[in-house]
Amino acid sequence: MSIHDPAPEATTDNSLILREDGTYPERFEDPGHPEHHDRMGDLDPKANKKAERQVVFLFVISILATIGFLIAYFAVPPGDQPHTILRSNLLLGLGLAVSLLGIGIAAVHWGKALMNDHEKAEDRHEQRSSDDTRAAAVEVLKEGAADSAIGRRGLLQGTMIGALALFPLAIVVPIVGNVGGDWDVSKFKYTMWRKGTRLTTDPTGRPIKASDVTIGSIFHVQPDKLDEQEHPLDEKAKSIVLLVRLDPEDLKESEDKKSWSYNGIVAYSKICTHVGCPVALYEQQTHHLLCPCHQSTFDVADGAKVVFGPAKRPLPQLPITVDDEGYLIAQSDFHEPVGPSFWERLT
Ligand code: FES
Repeated sequence: MSIHDPAPEATTDNSLILREDGTYPERFEDPGHPEHHDRMGDLDPKANKKAERQVVFLFVISILATIGFLIAYFAVPPGDQPHTILRSNLLLGLGLAVSLLGIGIAAVHWGKALMNDHEKAEDRHEQRSSDDTRAAAVEVLKEGAADSAIGRRGLLQGTMIGALALFPLAIVVPIVGNVGGDWDVSKFKYTMWRKGTRLTTDPTGRPIKASDVTIGSIFHVQPDKLDEQEHPLDEKAKSIVLLVRLDPEDLKESEDKKSWSYNGIVAYSKICTHVGCPVALYEQQTHHLLCPCHQSTFDVADGAKVVFGPAKRPLPQLPITVDDEGYLIAQSDFHEPVGPSFWERLT
């Protein structure tokens, strides 16, 4: 059809819908399918058998990877050292990835190399298929199931069922393994900050003098003597703090928290109250702290209240002062649990 042709009769064919400029789009010749090439497996039964063995091999790889995952889960616990956590995560991740990849690649290879190589063309049509088409689709699916010849390929069927049946264990076992585990949540209510604990730099552990903290600067802080704790990483995860100095004139402090800062220096938990990411981006001009995970923003000048984002609570404040030598110390632990809300929190 040329763009100068008269308007055709009303039709559901989208290529004949009138353009804004009063013309109709040209129709293009259907280029058809490229030349069909038979696959090796269609011509040579040996090649077909080889493809089947490859699919079996991939399912076996998946089965072995799932078993490897389960062995790693029990035999290589994460422990509480960075290198043991890394090792455990690496083995679990590899097991899971290879297990899923094995199933995925096997399914694709099965479809491409073993299922019938029909080429079909479909005309464009309305989004919702007619009832006839939908019924035909069901037929095609049934045809596909028959086409996969799963009934005739016993070994392939067995390994596929084995891989699919075993894989959910990689999810179920860790969940079941934790039943009866340590569910004592009271430990989340307290950190290792105590009256007189010095604030030290993270990760070097150098005590911080109040005179070292200039206006606008920010320190990442951990408690002194962290490495003497039984589980230093757990303790650090809970007690990590951000230290900021503002012009005391800029600080809005409620009456009950006026004594929690020292000369404009304030300390807040670094654990976002949304879902626990480390809040670390400080904007000196606005006094805003930004959590990089979901952009919750806290106003350090105003009790670390939430000014934007999904977090619902201000960051808990650590009451601080200085000791006789001018080093910053905690007055006490936090007065509320740090981190995201959990099921025991009432407010
Ligand atoms: S964890 Fe901080 S905004 Fe979501």
